[in-house]
Amino acid sequence: MKQNKNNQSDNPTNLIPIPLLNWYDHNARILSWRSEPTPYRVWVSEIMLQQTRVEAVKPYFERFMQTFPDPAALANADLQTVYKLWEGLGYYSRAKNLHSAAQRVVSDFAGQIPDQYEELIALPGIGEYTAAAIASIAYNKKYAVVDGNVLRVVSRLMASREDISKAKVKKEFRFMLEQVMPDTRAGDFNQAMMELGATVCVPNGMPLCEKCPLAELCEAKRRNLIEEIPVKPEKKKRRIEEYTILLFVCDNRTAIAKRLGKGLLEGLWGFPMTEGSLEEKQVGKLLESKQVQFDHITPLQPAKHIFTHVEWHMKGYLIEITKFYDVFDSDSLVWTDAEGLEKTFPIPNAFSVYNKIIKQYLNEQTDNIK
Ligand code: ADE
Repeated sequence: MKQNKNNQSDNPTNLIPIPLLNWYDHNARILSWRSEPTPYRVWVSEIMLQQTRVEAVKPYFERFMQTFPDPAALANADLQTVYKLWEGLGYYSRAKNLHSAAQRVVSDFAGQIPDQYEELIALPGIGEYTAAAIASIAYNKKYAVVDGNVLRVVSRLMASREDISKAKVKKEFRFMLEQVMPDTRAGDFNQAMMELGATVCVPNGMPLCEKCPLAELCEAKRRNLIEEIPVKPEKKKRRIEEYTILLFVCDNRTAIAKRLGKGLLEGLWGFPMTEGSLEEKQVGKLLESKQVQFDHITPLQPAKHIFTHVEWHMKGYLIEITKFYDVFDSDSLVWTDAEGLEKTFPIPNAFSVYNKIIKQYLNEQTDNIK
């Protein structure tokens, strides 16, 4: 679809809203944050939905709303409680920013989420996408959202071969969408574009063009370019990092450490770990060098965790020791039981294989004692 910036009435993108909104009215998924789109609910849901599928978000969203029904409740919580509720959702800086933004909403806006785009975008963790989503969905203001789904839909509609990772392309699409979005249903228009991208003009595999309300307007379809568009940059290879995870056990407890510094998973809890992929003998030597006396070392299954830019390849060992030591990161080390792992400490999915193993081990020990 060619754009004609000089004469809006000739612009065929003007034809998008009616079929799109009609389709949305009959096909939109029923989602709790959509049924009751208060600014707070829209904000939290849009943050959770970044890089995360709707189905995965649903239970987290409900628990979050029950625990923190408004910005003040979130602002008053401690960060660890917020992280614990976020456990497993990933990209934890989202939770940290949400928490500090809630504190700003309380201190600067009397606990009400602002309705001005410029005020929204000044809050931690709120960028162009989220500010536009809140302003349009909660306040019906005409700001277009441009996420990955929208980029795909628009680039196909226009048969645009421009690289969709470029800021310039995003800006052009936003401008175009803001020209055509209807005054009365800005939020629905945005959600409909995203919904179309998520469920019809899908990210992986062939789009379901036979179900698309915009198929007749789609230039990529007309020119048989669906498989070539959108154009994306080549993905960079992820860096591989090898670690050895040490599950120390003593008196029915295991050692965990808060991750300090500015690195990956900062502020969350993990098991003591060391760089490199150590063999059992090397683990024994390492413990001896730290004067840790142990009874047994049991090798565990290897595990892998994929982050955006890094892959962790892990080996694990269960190490039974005879007394509590300040093993490794001594500043932040805590000895916890299975209940602490389950209920208190936020332990990210990167450790889930070892977290499961150690919880089961500690629970079995408790059962044996009973
Ligand atoms: N993805 C992120 N936010 C969305 C929304 N509000 N509707 C549909 N898909 C989305």
